Amino acid sequence: MRRGFAPLVALALAVAAAPEAPAAEKATPQAAAGALLPRDSVEAAAFRGSLVYANYCVTCHGMNADGNGRAARLYTPRPANLRASDKNDAYASLIIRKGGAALGRSEFMPTWEAELTDEQIRDLVSYLRTINVHKAAN
Ligand code: HEC
Repeated sequence: MRRGFAPLVALALAVAAAPEAPAAEKATPQAAAGALLPRDSVEAAAFRGSLVYANYCVTCHGMNADGNGRAARLYTPRPANLRASDKNDAYASLIIRKGGAALGRSEFMPTWEAELTDEQIRDLVSYLRTINVHKAAN
């Protein structure tokens, strides 16, 4: 009877001895990428920005940032297609901070400076840069 357990014991020892898979391998590829990037890299900033975007901007600008969020049809003019935006980073940062009305644009583009930190706004601009058809190549 005792001998019958031996393979099981060996297996248990082998499993216990096997190195733990790194946590990153278990997470989604996207989360893993974010976790493994140096904090001050452009890629990490864009990754963090994508998370801020998903929380605050998707409803209007859409999952794909093409201006087709669930609430988009409520607004005229419609939320901008951020993939096709021809505005530079400084302008994007300004309209995110101050809102549309402050720049003579739609009042329905909210002001975010009370809600988001400076870093979150910088990260958003980095993210928008990576998805922009005009800027991505730069
Ligand atoms: C309540 C709806 C709404 C939400 C939420 C919203 N926006 Fe907007 N946004 C707009 C509208 C509407 C415009 C278009 C303004 C216009 O054309 O006058 C706009 C315009 C912009 C523009 C200008 C783009 C260009 O090419 O001129 C940027 C950049 C922008 N939004 C970024 C963001 C970001 C980043 C967030 C999240 C932090 C966000 N918006 C959340 C409605 C929204």
